[in-house]
Amino acid sequence: MKINVLPESMASRIAAGEVVERPASVVKELVENGLDAGAKEISVWVEKSGTSLIRVTDDGDGIAQEDLSLAVERHATSKLKREEDLFRIATLGFRGEALPSIGSVARLEIVSRTREMEAGAKLRMEGGKKSNPIMAGSPYGTTVEVRDLFFNTPARRKFLRSPATELGHICDVINRLALAYGDVHFRLFHEGRIISEYVAVPELKDRLRQIFGLEIAKEMASLSRSQAGIQLTGFLSFAPASYSNSRYLMTYVNRRFVRDRTLSHAVLQGYETLLMKGRYPAVVLYLEIPLEEVDVNVHPAKYEVRFRRSTEVHDGVVEGIREALKGAAKKDVSSVGTRGGEEMNVQIREPSLPYVSLVPRASHPSLGSDDARIPPADHRKGEGFFTNLEILGQILGCYIICASERGLALIDQHAAHERVAFEKMRGDIERGEIEQQELLIPQTVELPQAEALLLERRLGLLSRLGFTLEPFGRNTFVVKAVPALLPVGDYRGMLRAVAAELVEIGHSEELRQSLEERLMTLACHSVIRANRRLEREEIRALLKGLDEIDFATQCPHGRPVLLEITQEDLERMFKRT
Ligand SMILES: Nc1ncnc2c1ncn2[C@@H]1O[C@H](COP(=O)(O)OP(=O)(O)OP(=O)(O)O)[C@@H](O)[C@H]1O
Ligand SMILES: [Mg+2]
Repeated sequence: MKINVLPESMASRIAAGEVVERPASVVKELVENGLDAGAKEISVWVEKSGTSLIRVTDDGDGIAQEDLSLAVERHATSKLKREEDLFRIATLGFRGEALPSIGSVARLEIVSRTREMEAGAKLRMEGGKKSNPIMAGSPYGTTVEVRDLFFNTPARRKFLRSPATELGHICDVINRLALAYGDVHFRLFHEGRIISEYVAVPELKDRLRQIFGLEIAKEMASLSRSQAGIQLTGFLSFAPASYSNSRYLMTYVNRRFVRDRTLSHAVLQGYETLLMKGRYPAVVLYLEIPLEEVDVNVHPAKYEVRFRRSTEVHDGVVEGIREALKGAAKKDVSSVGTRGGEEMNVQIREPSLPYVSLVPRASHPSLGSDDARIPPADHRKGEGFFTNLEILGQILGCYIICASERGLALIDQHAAHERVAFEKMRGDIERGEIEQQELLIPQTVELPQAEALLLERRLGLLSRLGFTLEPFGRNTFVVKAVPALLPVGDYRGMLRAVAAELVEIGHSEELRQSLEERLMTLACHSVIRANRRLEREEIRALLKGLDEIDFATQCPHGRPVLLEITQEDLERMFKRT
């Protein structure tokens, strides 16, 4: 018999716990089982984002009929034999926990056939009770079907997020596994529609393309380094491509996807000052290390590991990343111009007040409160603080200098443009009259698949904001129209940032309300023109625009628009008082 029930002494030493948290955890366990069985083709069907059906079919070794009953027993595994095996785990599974756990919270059916069997065998399990195996027609390999997940634990069902989010998690799980198994053909179907297919590829670089899309993948350099028995390979984005979360920072240890502090810390340290605070790179890092040097039996979901030589591992990764980045930087200089005008590092800025003082507030006893420097909001249409400024000029291509009644006013022209556009957009949306401009030449944008899925579900929201997008083949969209107030430009970088934003927001419900505003900020921010000289008329129009928006009632986002240096400030600075 291949599958054995582990003796209590071993079972109790295995980190086990909540195995099935959401549909994606079921998918992860079943696909891992297929990979452990040496499958070269794995198909996953889900319905209702996995809550009503998850079916995983593989063409692996299969389970012998006499083993089938054991497969759903707790602590029954074919992957560990002796105590020592626990310290050199070579398979993705090892606990003998997954199938019984799934079978206790869903209706489970396994049909399997090994190469030695004349026909397949089938076993059912429901709410923890199993049937006797019976004969069933089956190709070689295994099909596991999981229906009505959490049917008997409604409390857990309540914790599930929106269908799009759950489906997104399933895509993530498959993408992560697929990134480590380029030689395996993966398919994912949702409600009968194929949503990803990764054919087997000779090189992981090709898998990277399949998953991240050509546009992102071609911006990534490869990495390879081997030292003291530790082998590092992978791909990494070089600055300035960066993301607002660590979603694309993926680390693998012996082909297992892990979230490991040591590794992610080392990766970020490798980037050092190349990334702004709060920005993350896209990195897919594969670490190969002798089995006995890494303990994978430390986390119930197997997402964490412990290294015997963790300092060496850490420093090796830092060095590897640095080396690769240096190499990439050299190449980058010679390929300037080929990267296009795409802005991948679009970001959302922290909220701050629209007006700030150059001199700390405490040193302003004369002003009393901030209100004194915020112009009254009742100036409308050409009759306001900004319109009344005397324009002195523009410096450094982006600051407008004006004389005000109180002293000097400095305006950040980009921030001003952005705020005016933002407020105008918001007003138009509120009135339901956002004006659109059709693009003469529609732009196409390719997105990583999980993001494409979410974006597709949010096309309605985007159209309310003035963007007309249409799905255009797998993971690709055509941009047909944009809000009229946005200057002509390349909208791809912005849409990519919007999609990334959706993913992030999709995971945190409390941010949902501010979604519209954040997307608008992004939209306005990412298409602001580059530094350029403004004609006096343009400056005047901009100042007028600033007066037309209601500062007092707006929820301010972003950098300040205006800095004022009052007469008192000047006197203090020149030590006249
Ligand atoms: N798709 C499959 N193909 C072949 N054998 C399988 C398959 N799925 C499960 N098995 C067999 O059933 C056993 C139990 O599977 P299960 O996933 O519950 O435990 P495991 O993979 O050994 O450990 P873990 O709980 O860490 O996943 C496996 O050890 C394996 O022998
Ligand atoms: Mg398993």
